[in-house]
Amino acid sequence: MRPRLGSLPFPAKAWLYNAGLALALGPLVVLLYRLDPRPAAPLDLLFWGLLVAWVQSTQIVLPLKATISQLFIVLLAALLVFPLWVPPLLVLVFYLNPDLWRDPTYTLYADVFNRLQMAVSIAVGALVYHLAAGLLAPLAPDLAEGLAVLAGGFVFFFVNITLVAYMIAVYTESPLWSVWQANFSWLSLSYLVLTPVALLFARLYTADPPVFGGWGGWPVLLFLVPLYYARYHWDEFVRLQGAFEQTVETLMATLDAKDAHTRLHSERVAAIAVDLAKAAGLDAVDREKVRLGARVHDIGKLAVPDRILFKPGRLTEQEFARIKRHPTEGEELLRHAPLFKEVLPIVRNHHERWDGRGYPDGLAGEAIHPWARIVALADAYEAMTAGRPYRPAKTPEEALAEVLANAGTQFDPGLVPLFQELWETNPIWRDREVFLRTYSSAVSSSGSSPPSSRASGSATTPKPR
Ligand SMILES: [Fe+2]
Repeated sequence: MRPRLGSLPFPAKAWLYNAGLALALGPLVVLLYRLDPRPAAPLDLLFWGLLVAWVQSTQIVLPLKATISQLFIVLLAALLVFPLWVPPLLVLVFYLNPDLWRDPTYTLYADVFNRLQMAVSIAVGALVYHLAAGLLAPLAPDLAEGLAVLAGGFVFFFVNITLVAYMIAVYTESPLWSVWQANFSWLSLSYLVLTPVALLFARLYTADPPVFGGWGGWPVLLFLVPLYYARYHWDEFVRLQGAFEQTVETLMATLDAKDAHTRLHSERVAAIAVDLAKAAGLDAVDREKVRLGARVHDIGKLAVPDRILFKPGRLTEQEFARIKRHPTEGEELLRHAPLFKEVLPIVRNHHERWDGRGYPDGLAGEAIHPWARIVALADAYEAMTAGRPYRPAKTPEEALAEVLANAGTQFDPGLVPLFQELWETNPIWRDREVFLRTYSSAVSSSGSSPPSSRASGSATTPKPR
């Protein structure tokens, strides 16, 4: 399923989505108030509101622009402490996203979205909690409350991830399911496991007499300490992803030390390949894999002796045969790292040709992995415009003409028109000199981000949650 809201610009779609959420929230809060019209004490509201703001400001970032925090636990606890109508309003008012001061691209519509989606999610969760508590009333009170909060928590989580995943899917133009899987599935379990913590918080806060310190807020604050320790493990997961990115960078730096030309080559191939992949309809998750595969596609050149790799004149047949082993050698090098598993076809088959006259497997047409076909075209264009000691660089126009002339022989004839269309929109990668300038400035300013992501124009990010 791929959400479509016509050709509106993303901020307009986001505001429309926000308006829909606001329309849903109003009646939900009124309904919750009708079901449970008890009042709430202002000091309790202030304490829990500050708690909401505090836990939210310690959120962590997940892949594909999503984030997660312990807001889940605090809101579920608030559901048990307060009348039903309070938690949605608490999060609507006190939600405090650290991106407000950390990220200059954080927008008003993103902030409004974050408040509204959390409020709607906890409102639906509150409704389910109320219904479940009614149904479970014949059970022992503690068991009934525990099961009801588990049901409410599950629904809260489900509505929350659906609303967020939908927004990200619209933003990244990816299928909802890919976004869902990429961001949330691994967390589902840890969320539900944390539900009893919410129950504990609520009991600690409302215990009469207070557990210690004469006020329920103290034990709640004290129990936040182990909770922060648990958060460390979530951070580890994200750090692991970062470490993987660094591994790729280290690999590229190793190859760069041997052949200074390769790093820029792989950056530009990745920029072209990602644009081409998008034009070919690949979603954001698959495009990331294409980018990774393009970055490491020539890693097998590490195994090629310098005297061949840097030979100034034409290669002998024997030397060329040695060079031609780099795709299989690259695959061999990465084969043992599970994180590269999915991009191995790119590494192995980026020198295959549509007519079957490529190497190492001589695959033809559709038998070549589509990602490898994309990288093969990007690789060839970059190589043509780069030149070699024995061959001058082609101009972008000459290189495009060669790509067009080889559609259906060397290149996938389905990809070539897409490539031409992209080329004509004058992307940053079309001219090698322009790319080199942008790339150098990007490297000196951030140290990592490839220019492709800047060039493709992500001016604003939704940053849900
Ligand atoms: Fe290659």
